[in-house]
Amino acid sequence: MKRIEIKKILAKEPVGEKVLVKGWVRNRRASKNVAFITLNDGSVLSNLQIVADVEKIGHELLSRISTGAAIGVEGILQESQGAGQKVELVADDITIYGEADPEKYPLQPKKHSLEFLREIAHLRFRTNTFSAVNRVRHNMIFAIHQYFHDHGFYNIHSPIITASDAEGAGETFHVTSLDIGNPPKDENGKVDYKQDFFGRQTNLTVSGQLEAELAALALSKVYTFGPTFRAENSNTKRHLAEFWMIEPEVAFNDLDDNMDLAEDFLKYLIRFALDNCAEDLAFLDKRMADEEKSLPQNQRSEMGLIEKMKFVLKNEFERVTYTKAIEILKNSKPNKKKKFDYIIEEWGADLQSEHERYLVEKHFKKPVILTDYPKDIKAFYMKQNEDDTVRAMDILFPQIGEIVGGSQREEEYDKLARRMDELNIPQEEMWWFMDTRKYGSVPHSGFGLGFERMMLFVTGMSNIRDVIPFPRTPQNAEF
Ligand code: 4AD
Ligand code: MG
Repeated sequence: MKRIEIKKILAKEPVGEKVLVKGWVRNRRASKNVAFITLNDGSVLSNLQIVADVEKIGHELLSRISTGAAIGVEGILQESQGAGQKVELVADDITIYGEADPEKYPLQPKKHSLEFLREIAHLRFRTNTFSAVNRVRHNMIFAIHQYFHDHGFYNIHSPIITASDAEGAGETFHVTSLDIGNPPKDENGKVDYKQDFFGRQTNLTVSGQLEAELAALALSKVYTFGPTFRAENSNTKRHLAEFWMIEPEVAFNDLDDNMDLAEDFLKYLIRFALDNCAEDLAFLDKRMADEEKSLPQNQRSEMGLIEKMKFVLKNEFERVTYTKAIEILKNSKPNKKKKFDYIIEEWGADLQSEHERYLVEKHFKKPVILTDYPKDIKAFYMKQNEDDTVRAMDILFPQIGEIVGGSQREEEYDKLARRMDELNIPQEEMWWFMDTRKYGSVPHSGFGLGFERMMLFVTGMSNIRDVIPFPRTPQNAEF
């Protein structure tokens, strides 16, 4: 007999049919004559209840079935006697694939802390929370490709190993095949990267943008969706050393077009989650509410997960310049009362997440797009305004802060070259990037959405380590 997934059974509820299900035991309760097994196969959040007659299936076999065991059950579906589910499976035959020693199996049918589950990330997929998060994650990946495909974009694979540092932040992981204990040296005593695998120094990419720009100046509308790597030593709930980024890049788009695209795209993803992940979101909504009960009142969010998602859909994002935002922050209560960790003194200050969240959660009370930042706190490639600002845009979300960073790009050769000189970025190494400004250059714009930041928003999880299967953070690369 062919196995059927629990998702399909619960969608159809074919009472009276004979089926074979396979999965992992969440719980087993036994009375004298019957055993009740809750089975989950990961296809959906819900479990299927198995009813096993002790005499028929055998006491010895049933006693080997405990939480975590993998089993297959053949039987007839019947209308459920108990509350909570419409159908249950009356077992004719049970096969044990793998037992799980109840003395040793770390996941018991009780609430475990997220911190503990991070230490057993190889098993945490088997919990409701992580199976829900990973199903939502899959749906978001699918929706991203769907959105761009439907809007005439082409997906470009940008390289993972590069010789450039697109953001210029110097936070790259080096890639080498040299013997780091005894590397070859040049005549100045420095490591001789000419002898390295690529004949030069290379690193893992921090962004696929520069390559996406090359493709956009031919295919018009492109996007990348790949892993990016940053060796920034920030141990926060919103930073990973390895995260996934979606980077659309569009020829002939200016900053306004870029903002329109980003807002439409984010709203599409939120709507997709609401439409396609209802059961998992309902579970995550309740999980978030439960978690927040243990927080002091002022740290709880004003809205539940689903309510917050619908709220973002309904409201237009507020578009504000950096200069205006600084005015608002300077005059804000927490700034005047020195409640911020970083007090905003003057124009030019880099915004911290506390400031971004103040603007979104307290002042505007909706997502905000900040534009036209000082050029000194942004990357070299951004389009320069007449004053000391660049055509940057950051999108700020409640609870998260920056979720998107993007800009219109500097398409004028001379201006770009001058800026690179000011920042000591070697033009000769970036000759291919400069070439696009020499031949058929056009205004163009793009942005990067941090996929895991988006995942935080649509799952209501509060730590970024819990929305990627295997987080990479400082001092942690287990699994
Ligand atoms: O603002 P960032 O650095 O922008 C870029 O990399 C541009 N090249 C994007 C572009 O214009 N094509 O990063 C973009 C987004 C941030 O807004 C944030 O959501 C996410 O990437 N991000 C991180 N997410 C998790 N962990 C980190 N360490 C992150 N750093 C950035
Ligand atoms: Mg940024």
